[in-house]
Amino acid sequence: MKRFLPLLTLGLIVLGGCGLEKPPAKIAEEIEAAKNPTEEAAPAAPAAEPAAAPAEELTPELAAGKEIYEASCKMCHDTGNMMKAPSPGDKAAWEPRLANGMEAIMKNTVEGFSSMPARGGNPELTDEQLKSAVDYMVHGVQ
Ligand code: HEC
Repeated sequence: MKRFLPLLTLGLIVLGGCGLEKPPAKIAEEIEAAKNPTEEAAPAAPAAEPAAAPAEELTPELAAGKEIYEASCKMCHDTGNMMKAPSPGDKAAWEPRLANGMEAIMKNTVEGFSSMPARGGNPELTDEQLKSAVDYMVHGVQ
């Protein structure tokens, strides 16, 4: 009979061991549960996007022109007036050019003249895209 005692103790230890394993399993469940709310909160992030709206009020056409301007023309046409490149909204710089008419301006933009490269140096831009970039640069001047 006394031989059973060690076995019994062993059995109790094993059972005790199993009992001890339960809490960590529960912790894992809690971690899983804690993860879910963060996943649900994720879709809320894009709601922050409208904050990126431009401070200046632009029509969709001018906004598109601004994007082209910033990508392809700004490096020269920014307010530094590099090589006398007229900057957006600069009345004094644009008025004498506009006096020649938009057609002449667009011809110069497409073909290039003086230090202004043809198509602003970006051959991938269509005439329409160039026009919208120019429209953006002269808006408020005309
Ligand atoms: C490498 C520099 C450079 C880049 C890039 C550039 N420009 Fe120019 N641009 C100039 C310079 C310099 C002038 C002024 C030339 C002069 O009057 O002697 C000019 C003049 C112009 C004019 C005035 C035309 C006229 O008839 O007086 C327009 C319009 C214009 N650029 C449009 C654009 C557009 C649109 C882009 C982008 C797609 C662009 N430029 C990119 C340098 C640049």
